[in-house]
Amino acid sequence: MADRPTIMVTRLLPPPGPELMEQYFEVRGNREDRCMTREEMLAEVAGVDALLTLLTDRVDVDVLEAAGPSLRVVSNCAVGFDNIDVEEATRRNILVATTPGVLTDATAELTWALILSACRRVVEGDVMVRSGEFVGWTPTLLLGMELKGRVLGVVGMGRIGRAVAERAEAFGMTVLYTRRSGPLPPDSIPRGAEWQHTDSLRWLLATADVVSIHLPLSETTHHLLGRRELGLMKKGSVLINTSRGAVIDERALVDALREGPLRAAGLDVYEQEPRVAAGLVEAKNVVLLPHVGSATNETRGRMAKMAVMNARAAVCGESVPHAVNADKIR
Ligand code: GLV
Repeated sequence: MADRPTIMVTRLLPPPGPELMEQYFEVRGNREDRCMTREEMLAEVAGVDALLTLLTDRVDVDVLEAAGPSLRVVSNCAVGFDNIDVEEATRRNILVATTPGVLTDATAELTWALILSACRRVVEGDVMVRSGEFVGWTPTLLLGMELKGRVLGVVGMGRIGRAVAERAEAFGMTVLYTRRSGPLPPDSIPRGAEWQHTDSLRWLLATADVVSIHLPLSETTHHLLGRRELGLMKKGSVLINTSRGAVIDERALVDALREGPLRAAGLDVYEQEPRVAAGLVEAKNVVLLPHVGSATNETRGRMAKMAVMNARAAVCGESVPHAVNADKIR
């Protein structure tokens, strides 16, 4: 059908993404499970109505320019959108859509996997057993930090931060949190939960036993946890990041893990993915995951579906509930 809108996809999506795209669009781009090269992207994007991207694709002025005036929407199959020049897209009247909500639980669960692994030295133990270094129970083997009665610091009490905080109840932890728009309304706090708001990141860092970062990456949050902030953290505390790597200065983190005050860290994201800062891989007190916060079958399917449906709504002129710049588009 010649009059169907065109979408360019940059990589094979999990089901039902491909079938849904075929249903609504003329599909072009890359249907293989590999990154599209920059050259391929710039060549293929010309004249499309919609662009379906992943967080590994840089959508900058060159891509938007190469697409030309037909482009109505960049639909990112991710909740983060720091890979897209939203300002430039907005200037060109192009919607930028994301996939919030559907990955909240998966990411919160993975955050807890990191908290527990870092606090109880799960990976060190695994390595010890596999390498034949486990020679029997001892009263001092791999002692870790117990969570009950401790303070969980949630930096960024958005959807994911909240889902992480809710799970802290099960471990008997209290929660200290920062939130861009101030304290949560009291009636939105789970009954019986001890959640305390603070405007002071420094206070949170100095007080919490486990700090978990749940912020989008922007100019304001880039290296928000730098050398000075890491130095303020409570002695023996644990830092977890499942948001974006560049919120933390990775080199300063290596030093804080080596020299204190940090006991351990758990990371799913890095400043220069897939590269990891020198010193991190060697550090035994950090658990390293390859950016898999939302990587469950259920969630990746929901993200793919939402990304296609966002693109479809945009090209049909319908409202796109998950567009980050909808209020600025004419
Ligand atoms: C994952 O990091 C996402 O932004 O969806």
